[in-house]
Amino acid sequence: EVLQKNLAHLSRTHPKRRAAAVPAMQNLQAELGYLDDMAITKLAQITGLSTTELEELATFYSLIYRRPPGRHVVQICDSVCCNMRGADQLLESAEKYLHRPLGAITPNGALSVLPSICLGLCDKAPAALVDGEALGPLNNVSLEALLQRLQK
Ligand code: FES
Repeated sequence: EVLQKNLAHLSRTHPKRRAAAVPAMQNLQAELGYLDDMAITKLAQITGLSTTELEELATFYSLIYRRPPGRHVVQICDSVCCNMRGADQLLESAEKYLHRPLGAITPNGALSVLPSICLGLCDKAPAALVDGEALGPLNNVSLEALLQRLQK
């Protein structure tokens, strides 16, 4: 019911359903921690969007989690400015360092590293958000030190 009221408000402020769905997803995620299949189905019923459309939105917006993230979340930008300054190598280094693919959680549940679209931190390229905090420019050494600290 709270979500429905929330969406009614969002629909007034965001006349396009897809635009209203994104903050609705963010709000629901703030309550649940991530959006499981049941949450996506519920959002589809309320927003009138299909589950496929909501999946696409969740895939595009890297801050929407479809599975529980680690206690710490490192989002490394892989858009143009950051890639020109080595973000792709940073993402590869993170995978190698953690011995798992991007998006996976470390075994103790401490850490997830995710690629992200532009974080709006192009002046800090290659940039990252670490638990919501801006960081950059990163290099392999500073990234490994960060991952080492966070995965404990
Ligand atoms: Fe990376 Fe904008 S391109 S923060």
